[in-house]
Amino acid sequence: CSTNELEGTTILVTAGGTQESIDPVRYIGNRSSGKMGYAIAEQAAHMGAKVILVSAPTSLPIPSGVDFISVDSAVSMQEAVEARYNDVNVVIMAAAVSDFRVLHKAEQKIKKMESMTIELVKNPDILQGLGSKKSHQILVGFAAETEHVIKYGQDKVAKKNLDMLVANDVSKSNAGFNVDTNEGYFLYPDKEPKEMPNMKKSDLARHILREVIDLVANKHS
Ligand code: PMT
Repeated sequence: CSTNELEGTTILVTAGGTQESIDPVRYIGNRSSGKMGYAIAEQAAHMGAKVILVSAPTSLPIPSGVDFISVDSAVSMQEAVEARYNDVNVVIMAAAVSDFRVLHKAEQKIKKMESMTIELVKNPDILQGLGSKKSHQILVGFAAETEHVIKYGQDKVAKKNLDMLVANDVSKSNAGFNVDTNEGYFLYPDKEPKEMPNMKKSDLARHILREVIDLVANKHS
């Protein structure tokens, strides 16, 4: 059912796993299906927000009522997000962004050979860039961790200047990448962590958005 709790709020959501080209037919990717980010975009639209979904390639249908921007690499995602940053109230980065890209992309398909080496260079950290120039926006990140979930998540809250971070333990088979459920902790710069038990990604999305409503209200008070 639809509500209007987020009416008047523009939320940019990123989703999916970025793809870094090696040659015209191959890329370096990751296991993100886009399910978490799409669930957030869909629920935010149901709650009355204006939603911009910046998505790396996925096999999911585009949620109705969202403004959809298709990207592939981390750099193209960064361009799409930064171009809209001033006009949004909230950014929620659920995308799994590649930390590296291929230094020399081959123009033609690489032929078979006995062995090969691909040189990678560091990608920009999109969220950290947004955090360093934050003004009116609420910034929500995700952290995909396999150990020390709270500690590593809290380090990211501070480093990226976030208002909230969803730390998920991706070592569990019913959480994180490419499943319909998720669990973890909500972390904040100035509040105790909140534990989120395992639940459907659509339910977790609603919990995240309720936190966002509070964060937006507190920012204006
Ligand atoms: O798509 P699903 O299959 O549903 O899976 C969901 C998910 C596991 C991908 C999602 O819940 C999740 O955890 N997304 C973040 C994954 C990730 O890249 O985590 P990270 O710890 O490497 O990055 C921390 C934060 O910085 C993230 O918000 C990420 O979007 C952002 N980041 C990371 C690297 C980079 N170069 N730029 C970024 O902006």
